[in-house]
Amino acid sequence: MKFTTAALAALGLVSSVSAVAVKKRAATDPIVVKGSKFFHKNSGEQFFMKGVAYQTDLSLVDVSELPAGQKFVDPLTDIESCKRDVPLLEALNTNLIRVYAIDTEKSQDACMKLLSDAGIYVIADLSEPGLSVNRDAPAWDHHLYERYTAVIDKLQKYDNVMGFFAGNEVTNNKSNTDASPFVKASVRDMKAYIKEKKYREIPVGYATNDDEFVRDQLADYFNCGPAEESVDFWGYNIYSWCGQSSLKISGWDKRTEEYADYNVPVFFAEYGCNEPSPRKFTEVQALYGDVMSPVFSGGIVYMYFEEANNYGLVSVDKGGKVTKLSDYTALQGQLDDITPKSVKLTSYTPTNTKARACPAQDDNWKAATNLPPKPDQPTCECLRSQLTCVPAANLAEKKYADIFGYICGQLGEGGCDGIATDGTNGIYGSYSMCDAEIRLGWALTKYYESQNSAASACDFERQARVATPTTLNSTCEKMVDAAGGTAGKALEGGSSTSSGKSSTESDKPNAGSCLTPPAGLSTLVILVASFLGMGMIML
Ligand SMILES: *[C@@H]1O[C@H](CO)[C@@H](O)[C@H](O)[C@H]1NC(C)=O
Ligand SMILES: *[C@@H]1O[C@H](CO)[C@@H](O)[C@H](O)[C@H]1NC(C)=O
Repeated sequence: MKFTTAALAALGLVSSVSAVAVKKRAATDPIVVKGSKFFHKNSGEQFFMKGVAYQTDLSLVDVSELPAGQKFVDPLTDIESCKRDVPLLEALNTNLIRVYAIDTEKSQDACMKLLSDAGIYVIADLSEPGLSVNRDAPAWDHHLYERYTAVIDKLQKYDNVMGFFAGNEVTNNKSNTDASPFVKASVRDMKAYIKEKKYREIPVGYATNDDEFVRDQLADYFNCGPAEESVDFWGYNIYSWCGQSSLKISGWDKRTEEYADYNVPVFFAEYGCNEPSPRKFTEVQALYGDVMSPVFSGGIVYMYFEEANNYGLVSVDKGGKVTKLSDYTALQGQLDDITPKSVKLTSYTPTNTKARACPAQDDNWKAATNLPPKPDQPTCECLRSQLTCVPAANLAEKKYADIFGYICGQLGEGGCDGIATDGTNGIYGSYSMCDAEIRLGWALTKYYESQNSAASACDFERQARVATPTTLNSTCEKMVDAAGGTAGKALEGGSSTSSGKSSTESDKPNAGSCLTPPAGLSTLVILVASFLGMGMIML
């Protein structure tokens, strides 16, 4: 995005920036969690977020200028827009922005300074559109681990970073609850990473959606079991207060009761129903009022920029000129007029001390309580060095699913256990945490060797090629042994979230998520169908 300073000066925005900078503020007082509330660490005042979702609208960006494959712009790397927007956010009474995608290759320094000077905190998602747990084919692998830790490395140094979302609406209905163990494993591993690196204790949480069939189980699941594995806070994306509503009509009275005993802070990670539009934001008085403020730590309005979906507070034209919409003024007035019930850090003794029980599996909820293993790249590299058939160079990742489906079908029951990602039964292959490329190499090798290494068994229409393994060094030998040899093995969880259910052999599924070809269809038909993109086979 290109906004010239001249254009900003013309708008009078450059001078208002310096006015903000001149206003004396202490360095940002970090936010800490105690019980089910947030506090300023030094002043001891309770922290209620008056947040706004802040994510650059791609329609205003020349996407050809982005690195290949990148589908987002990190607004914290765009100093000109920060100069333009921070004064507007501050005037809105905002004390926090939510940023959905961080660019780890660029600097956030300048924007973070402007925000800090304006007393505005940042809560950031660790994923980005191209790198998150895929609800339809979930895994928690090295690739994601690297992405999430890179964001933490990048942002941990700023005092005004108040938290990280390890996921946003990954499980979003009853059809994909088996993705949640992978997300919870990411929470576990990011919390451990922050400790291991001796970073400031920045909390790690999750942002959930409001699906009536799974919302309660999700809240329980991410809170249950050992504290090292559960969320430090719970974000709730909720749009059920529309127009002139009420606690009762919106169901927010019920939500408040449900979270009254939750033992970590809860807030609205997105809110602001836009039917009818323009919005009056009458829900602000409820959220920060006497009933809700003892339970919820405020919320984040969706969202700053006007896009096609009509949720904006301001609109920005192609030239970078910003215009306040009536939603902006309405929200500003509402936020001007709130007095949430608060308590001081020193006088607060948490009463919500019990974690929730893990939800039982039923027709709606099918997530195992034991979690997949922590990604361990050295072990994966050892495995890679032993592969005899690997994906062709440049094979697009979207081609993987069909090949996995075919091979795991051919290998039959248990054949793909070494890379199984079965979040329902809690069975995870010891190599399930390797990147998709290595996992595919594992499957290709297994198939190739099952065919006595016939050249035709490592071809797949030139999507695979033969590779020469190297001799295992002693370090690798130990690691590969621990993973069950190059064949791998099914693990019953990299950690257990509770006493939890342990899977038995009898309810073990067929090769994790791998499907067997339906009876009656010949292998050739399946293969051809898959290559034509007709296969419904996913790993
Ligand atoms: C669940 O969500 C997915 C992804 O948003 C959607 O494709 C699917 O239709 C939904 N299923 C149900 C049962 O609502
Ligand atoms: C052992 O081999 C692996 C895989 O080739 C390699 O990544 C690793 O650096 C090697 N370790 C040592 C100590 O040589």
